[in-house]
Amino acid sequence: MLFEEAHIGSLTLRNRLIRSATAEMMADEVGQPLPQLASLYGRLASGGIGLLITGHMYVHPSGKAHPGMTGIYSDDLIPELRALSKAVHAHGGAAAVQINHAGRQSRGGLVDDPIAPSAHIATPPRSNAREMTIDEIETIIDAYAQAARRAQEAGFDAVQIHAAHGYLVSQFLSPLANSRTDAWGGSLENRTRFLVRILAAVRQQVGADFPVLAKLGIRDESSEGLTLDEGVHIVRQLASLGLDAVEISGGLADTGTFNIVGDIGPGSNEAYFRPWAQAVRQVAQLPILLVGGMRSLATMEAVLASGDAQFISMCRPLICEPDLPNRLAAGLQSAAACVSKNRCWPRKDDLGISCKCLGVVRSPAT
Ligand SMILES: Cc1cc2nc3c(=O)[nH]c(=O)nc-3n(C[C@H](O)[C@H](O)[C@H](O)COP(=O)(O)O)c2cc1C
Repeated sequence: MLFEEAHIGSLTLRNRLIRSATAEMMADEVGQPLPQLASLYGRLASGGIGLLITGHMYVHPSGKAHPGMTGIYSDDLIPELRALSKAVHAHGGAAAVQINHAGRQSRGGLVDDPIAPSAHIATPPRSNAREMTIDEIETIIDAYAQAARRAQEAGFDAVQIHAAHGYLVSQFLSPLANSRTDAWGGSLENRTRFLVRILAAVRQQVGADFPVLAKLGIRDESSEGLTLDEGVHIVRQLASLGLDAVEISGGLADTGTFNIVGDIGPGSNEAYFRPWAQAVRQVAQLPILLVGGMRSLATMEAVLASGDAQFISMCRPLICEPDLPNRLAAGLQSAAACVSKNRCWPRKDDLGISCKCLGVVRSPAT
């Protein structure tokens, strides 16, 4: 099933394999992507992926998370962004932009005046954040919508709202980060309002036919945080509001690498968010992207055959092997080489992500 054509809303994909959003750290100081990023996207698309989701892009200058992050906060960035979608289309893939705002999870010193749903005293290297005013909430909702419009104008096929991993949307959803007492905090309905309003604003900008996805942190790894029941309820609500597909993830970045589990191998720790996909599937009809430890062809096919998810999404394996989809399809490999030691982030003088666990990054030509 993995290599059959599939659909997300109006979009046809050549297979069910998705490159999950991966912060590439290949942009300059103002967020303009460097030429290396288009080359990487070309390599991933020629490696056979069906849909490439970009690394998270910041929708507003106040939302930059870390150095090297790509920006989508200004129309001036559209020409460079267009080079990215072209690089994917040139090799028969489809491309979606992940739109994000870091909120209180901005690396210290990057943003003048960090904002969050509620005031936050940070541990370094993060800076303290202050509570957003209602005017600022409206400004940022519009920034997501304008970012989605820019993605569409830049030739992308879809957008994905980042609602996971402790960034701004996830901060609004989580009682651990949102202690507001107005219409934007407290009850689940109030905590979800920011995401619901973003979805509506994005939809208004891009029109009914343009696929809009979300990556949702479906629960926090804490008894005080967002619960699985609440997360499932949110997916059902988003589906009823016209969300085209959901990618299941979880956890706040403050709880470490919870969403990026280590030491995965074929048959061990694979598909670690599958139980949550099963919970979503009971209540919502929309396509599910399952990310997190998808490594062996056998597990991918089993997940698809069970109906627990309709798409298989991977991050770390494709850093190490951008041509993994073609190799799986050709029967050259039955599993990813990735050993999930989580050493993908750049060292001091590196430009962007690369696989340092295995030592060698195989090029698609070999
Ligand atoms: C280097 C790196 C960068 C990441 N950047 C993003 C990102 O920009 N947006 C996002 O939603 N998740 C991001 N993630 C999380 C992955 O998309 C994915 O959810 C997680 O790694 C689990 O999938 P995997 O086992 O296939 O790696 C990143 C993970 C890594 C290792």
